[in-house]
Amino acid sequence: MFSLDELRAGLAEHRPQILALVHAETSTGACQPLEGVGELCREFNCLLLADTVTSLGGLPLFLDDWGIDMAYSGSQKCLSCPPGISPLTLGPRAIAKLNQRQTKVPNWYLDLSMVGKYWGQERTYHHTAPISMIYALREALRLIAEEGLAERWSRHQANAERLWEGLASLGLKCHVEEPYRLPSLITVCIPEGVDGKAVTQKLLTDYNIEVGNGLGELAGQVWRIGLMGFNSRPENVLMVLDAFKETIG
Ligand SMILES: Cc1ncc(COP(=O)(O)O)c(C=O)c1O
Repeated sequence: MFSLDELRAGLAEHRPQILALVHAETSTGACQPLEGVGELCREFNCLLLADTVTSLGGLPLFLDDWGIDMAYSGSQKCLSCPPGISPLTLGPRAIAKLNQRQTKVPNWYLDLSMVGKYWGQERTYHHTAPISMIYALREALRLIAEEGLAERWSRHQANAERLWEGLASLGLKCHVEEPYRLPSLITVCIPEGVDGKAVTQKLLTDYNIEVGNGLGELAGQVWRIGLMGFNSRPENVLMVLDAFKETIG
């Protein structure tokens, strides 16, 4: 996680055109606070791009209030929709930047100037729409509207807290300090002397529970437990805690 002071120092040193931050970091389980970052980026005439793949629908996210100029997400995490479609949003500063381009976008797939014409009045062909995925996303969003966004955020938080408490009672520590700990992806420190991969393998084969192994520098250091969307439920928390107890107890 970066503090506003660290971000300010980085922007002053590098003067980037875009600052890209991951809001909910799935490999570490950390939440990057975004409040105030948009204002900072405006001071440095820089756009703010947020990766909200593991946060959208699972924890508070206020794109406009936080001055986020562009954000993308995934359908398959806290939105609980099948994978294959990526929500994307651009604010006025990002669209202005796109419109000021002096050169053509050098690829087809992410040419947002062409995508804009496809969405707009012109309906210029850009791609074939994944219609069944759009219906699936609509249904996922309908379920969120039915539950209420704030209620959904509270549910994710409450179930994460159940898991954190249960892990502590098994003597397991979370990798991230609580103020920055994600409710959607919890990284658990593998205790000394425990073979982390053997545990995840046993959880999968004996309990049909898939817990992720650590990635990059955290390989062999942490387990990663997802509590996202439909899966963020008290019975799942109890099931995973029981399985851990039996496996490492
Ligand atoms: C924070 C974050 N960003 C991006 C991605 C990539 O998403 P996808 O696998 O849908 O391309 C992931 C996937 O896990 C992620 O967790």
